[in-house]
Amino acid sequence: MGRPKSEKERKGGMKAIILVGYDDSRLRPLTLFKPKPLIEFGNKRIIDHQLDALVEAGVRHVIVAATYTFQGVELEKGLKAFVLKNQIKLTVSVETEPLGTAGPLALARKYLEGDSEPFFVLNSDIICDFPFKDMLEFHKNHGCEGTIAVTKVEEPSKYGVVTYDDKGQIGSFMEKPQEFVSNKINAGLYILNSKVLDRIELRPTSIEKEIFPVMAASQQLYAYELKGYWMDIGQPKDFLTGMCLYLQSERQKPDTKLKFKTGAGIVGNVLMDDSVKVGSNCRIGPNVTIGKDVVIKDGVCIKRCTVLSGSKIGSHSWLDNCIVGWNCKISNEVYLINGAILGESVNVYPRVTNNGGRVYHGAL
Ligand code: GTP
Repeated sequence: MGRPKSEKERKGGMKAIILVGYDDSRLRPLTLFKPKPLIEFGNKRIIDHQLDALVEAGVRHVIVAATYTFQGVELEKGLKAFVLKNQIKLTVSVETEPLGTAGPLALARKYLEGDSEPFFVLNSDIICDFPFKDMLEFHKNHGCEGTIAVTKVEEPSKYGVVTYDDKGQIGSFMEKPQEFVSNKINAGLYILNSKVLDRIELRPTSIEKEIFPVMAASQQLYAYELKGYWMDIGQPKDFLTGMCLYLQSERQKPDTKLKFKTGAGIVGNVLMDDSVKVGSNCRIGPNVTIGKDVVIKDGVCIKRCTVLSGSKIGSHSWLDNCIVGWNCKISNEVYLINGAILGESVNVYPRVTNNGGRVYHGAL
C-alpha cells in the first residue's frame, strides 16, 4: 500500500498506537541520551522499523503513547521528518502517571474509537518482520475482538504465555507463569476492534493481566503465529542477539533494501553506512552494524557489535559483543568485550580493557 497519495487516502487509513514505557534503565547508557525508540538498530531507528511496516500496511494515524513529557517532546521532534515524508498524522499522547499497557489506550480513546476499522497496538521494543497485512487479514477472518501475535521461545517463563486451539482461538493467557504452560508467547503486537476500549478504564492497567485473560475467557481473542525471527530488544544482550537475527533474516530476502558490505576483511553479515571510513588490515564481522561517519583505523577487529554514528576507533583495537554509542573516541589497542556499552562522547584511553562494563559518559 505504501505512502498515501491523497488527503482522502490519508484520512481513510488505519490507526496504530505504540506504547513507550518509562523503564529505560535496561538499555542505559544509550537511553540517557534519547528515548529508546529513537536509538538506531541496524542503522535505522527502532521506531522506524515499526513505522515503515505500519505505513506499508495502510496505517495513516500513529499515536505514540509516551509516559512522561520530556519523552513525548523528544519523540515528537524525532518523528517530524518521518511524518512529513510519509504524509501520516502523528499524535503524541502523554500520561500524567504511567498507565501501564492498557491505560494508554483509554487515554487515547478519542483517537482510536468511532471507526469500523480495527487498530494496531505495538510494544515499542519489538523487532521482527512485522507481517501486518497478513495479521490484519487473519483478524478480519476470525471476526472477534482481538488478535495477538505470538511467537515460540525457549524460555517462556519471562513472558506472557498463550494457549490456543488449531484455529487460533486463545483458551488461556497467563503473564509470566511459574510452571510450564506453553512455549508460545505474546509477541507484543496486537490488532484490536474499538469495542475493546469498552473493557479498559482510564487508570494504570495491564493489558496482559487484566484485559487479555477476560477477552480469552469470553472467546474474543485469537493468536496469530509469527513466522521468522522475533526479539524484544529492550536489553543489551537481546539487542545484540536481535541485531544478528535481523541481519540474517534480511540477508536471506531476495528483495532486501539493505546494502550488505562485502570485500576484503569483511566477514559474514555486515551493515555499514556509506560514509564509514575503514583503514587497512581490518577484520569486520560477522554480525556488525556501523553507523554514519564512523572512522575505523588500521588493524581493528570488530565482531557482533553495533557502533553508532560519529564514533572513532583507534588502530588495533578489538571490539567483540559490545555497543558503542554516538561520537565516542576509542584510542589504540583498546579491548571492548563481553557486553560492554559506551554512551555518548565517551573517550577511551589507549590499551584500556572494558569487560562488560557500562560507561555513561566521560573518559575510561
Ligand atoms: P517486562 O515485561 O517487565 O520485562 O517489560 P517489557 O518492557 O518487555 O514489557 P511491559 O509489559 O512492561 O511493556 C510492554 C510495552 O508497553 C513496552 O513497549 C513498554 O515500553 C510499554 N509500557 C509499559 N508500561 C507503560 C506505561 O506505563 N505507559 C506507556 N505508555 N507504555 C508502557
